[in-house]
Amino acid sequence: MKFLSGLLAAFALGASAETKITRDTQTKLLSTVLPGSLLPQFLFMQGNLEGGAIGFNTGGGRGIKQPFIPDDSAGEDIFDGALEDQRSPQLPYLTQDLWGCEREEGNMDTVVMEDEFLKVTIVPSVSGKVWSIYDKKRNRDVLYNNPAHQPANIGALKAWGAGGSEWNWSPGIIGHSAFSESTLHTARVSTDKGEVVRVFEYDRYNSTVFQVDMMLDGKGAFFFHPKITNNNDADLRGYWWTCVAVDSTPSTRILTPASHVAETTASNMRDAPWPHFTILNQNSSFFGYAPSGADYRQDMSYIGNHLTGDMFLRIMDDDVYTPYIAHTDIEKDGFFLVHGHKLNGTKFFTWGQNGPGRFMQDFLAGGLRRQGDYTELQVGPAPTQMQSFPVPAQSKKEWTDWFKGFDGDQTELSSLEYSDAISEVDSHIQNKDSGVTNDYQKEMDDFLKSIADLPVTEMLVQGSPWGALEEKLRGESFSQGLPFALPKEGEEQYDEMKPWLELLEDGVFSAETLAMYTPVSFQTTDAWMNLLEVSADKFGMNYLTALHLGIGYMERGEIDRPVDLFQTSLKLNQTVVAYRNLALLQQTPSEVNDYFQKAWSHFKATENTGSDKDAVLQARLGRNLATEILSYYQQENMVDEMPDLLSDLSDLQSHIDFESLDLVQTSRVLVNLALATTSSYNSAIKILASNCFPTYASARTDLSSFWFRAHEGLAEINKGSPLTNIEALRARKADPVPENIGCQYGGQYCDSYW
Ligand SMILES: *[C@@H]1O[C@H](CO)[C@@H](O)[C@H](O)[C@H]1NC(C)=O
Ligand SMILES: *[C@@H]1O[C@H](CO)[C@@H](O)[C@H](O)[C@H]1NC(C)=O
Ligand SMILES: *[C@@H]1O[C@H](CO)[C@@H](O)[C@H](O)[C@H]1NC(C)=O
Ligand SMILES: *[C@@H]1O[C@H](CO)[C@@H](O)[C@H](O)[C@H]1NC(C)=O
Repeated sequence: MKFLSGLLAAFALGASAETKITRDTQTKLLSTVLPGSLLPQFLFMQGNLEGGAIGFNTGGGRGIKQPFIPDDSAGEDIFDGALEDQRSPQLPYLTQDLWGCEREEGNMDTVVMEDEFLKVTIVPSVSGKVWSIYDKKRNRDVLYNNPAHQPANIGALKAWGAGGSEWNWSPGIIGHSAFSESTLHTARVSTDKGEVVRVFEYDRYNSTVFQVDMMLDGKGAFFFHPKITNNNDADLRGYWWTCVAVDSTPSTRILTPASHVAETTASNMRDAPWPHFTILNQNSSFFGYAPSGADYRQDMSYIGNHLTGDMFLRIMDDDVYTPYIAHTDIEKDGFFLVHGHKLNGTKFFTWGQNGPGRFMQDFLAGGLRRQGDYTELQVGPAPTQMQSFPVPAQSKKEWTDWFKGFDGDQTELSSLEYSDAISEVDSHIQNKDSGVTNDYQKEMDDFLKSIADLPVTEMLVQGSPWGALEEKLRGESFSQGLPFALPKEGEEQYDEMKPWLELLEDGVFSAETLAMYTPVSFQTTDAWMNLLEVSADKFGMNYLTALHLGIGYMERGEIDRPVDLFQTSLKLNQTVVAYRNLALLQQTPSEVNDYFQKAWSHFKATENTGSDKDAVLQARLGRNLATEILSYYQQENMVDEMPDLLSDLSDLQSHIDFESLDLVQTSRVLVNLALATTSSYNSAIKILASNCFPTYASARTDLSSFWFRAHEGLAEINKGSPLTNIEALRARKADPVPENIGCQYGGQYCDSYW
């Protein structure tokens, strides 16, 4: 009897400790990201207007660099590798600038990795991020498990949704990566220590690859191993941040063995002591005056004390055995989650205790009124997100992070002495049996290193075609552990890949490609530009080769050569994109508008012709062009130009949905405001009150000012003469900005949302 039960127990333990990987779905409130813009977005277009503002620069060139310049109080470690330019190039990627606000229940495909302790849910379609980690023993989510997929205008390519643990790789470009709303290759790898999930992708900016191998250790910890490979002969700079959203309340305490923090509550980034400092007076000896002996420095380890900012915590190399960022809610219980790592960068971000922060969190959670407050705990190789790190030619960089939850002593964790809380966390991490000691971390790191190039056992989800195409161009594979494959006809992104495969294999675009309504992908790196030039020399110039060459040179900052190439292209065959690119290279608003008009006329003349496939592209291009032109009119206050275009859009609405576009709705508002009648003001108010404006971020201030203009206008009509300041104030107070408009992204104050 005894023998048997012993055997059973051993069997049960063995079986349940094993990691199982399954494919599943999860139900969420879903808003859809539409396919990227068919209008190439050039670097010079980006100005001081990022974060979802309206408008863009014209005229060509390279625009104005936006370097990171820290305050001199920041250490040399913060100056090292400071980004020379914080703008985010888009090409060769398509900008993902259109998405919805449907917030309808639907299923997302997931890959689930599960053992006795944890259930990790990975969503390949949103950058292969870990959407949630459920602690089965404690019955709780340990990350912020967003109830919705609701993008906002925040990512490097614009669309980005909050929650979970995401991987952000780029060759030195700041922001939530180009993959935020794209599908990553996802595979299962069988190893000596059990099953591993590998997500990986090829990055098109500078031809690099990255992967993240994830595994459960069977003891309640989740380990993951990012690896970046630069197979090029050129030295590159790198940018990596693992961004981990966790539930947050004002009583959430951040626990990290840092001695000081480089932080952005003031510009430029300043150094401050950690955890007690005063915003705007970071390290002065002026502590205020209070008879009780208290001072006005706050304990900034509590989320409730933050109004804004990025906190880049500085952990000294030799201080601790492992850097980490942990958090606990001191009003809840003693549970704390540790994110351990071996990197130079440890950070947290909070939206801050203010109207804009609360609105953005609610928006990203698909609702209103405190749907999903979270804080983002982040780690990366560079000390801050405004720095890059070296990734030399022909090199690899890899490391191992881990998450583990512990039950600590609530009194210690909430001690007024921060060091008590840190000691409590340390004692759990260092526990030989239940912790993640330095030795154990090294053992896991060695293991994960040893399997990083292991071939995958099973592909679960296919990502982009670009890695396989690039391997063909280079004549070698990136890594035997990363099986990139070209899509077949009918498969995802086949049409995007096909023209470039032709160029590679035949040296020239096919007749079928030349007959496509509009290009659906771009290639702008030197290697592809070279192939385009060779093609033009050998087979003669065609309109499409000229168009692509013009785009590549335009992105490089040239003006004359792209103008010639677009004109050559137009002589060979008219396209919307060539006219539109010429618009962007003009110097005055009226010249820009002339070419926008040519692009729009050509669009009208050619839409509703051709195949079903053409119809899809026509609708997509038309919506992109209408959005861009209206954005330009708004920026330049060209309200008089709007009615004609808007009336075209109404005419085309029967087969192309223009009316759901944010820029169409807000341009209708502007036209109504200009008409200045009772009914036009009411129409403006109705549009403003009944839309979500999902692509608006910092430009939400435009929406609130339109709202007030309409209400002041109505009051003025009622009165029959101009309003006094006080009457205008009363009109604004009587009709405050509605919740759907909310507050602007990136703001710190707004009284319309709380
Ligand atoms: C990386 O790509 C960008 C264009 O995306 C290019 O300007 C830059 O020169 C490339 N860097 C290297 C080292 O090749
Ligand atoms: C704060 O200022 C003091 C005095 O200048 C200095 O010794 C200390 O290192 C500073 N602390 C931080 C975190 O910058
Ligand atoms: C941390 O910074 C140091 C100094 O710049 C550098 O040598 C080291 O490689 C960095 N560590 C990582 C993991 O990138
Ligand atoms: C010109 O471009 C259109 C798409 O804009 C295409 O359908 C047509 O086949 C092209 N004509 C030639 C001669 O390439």
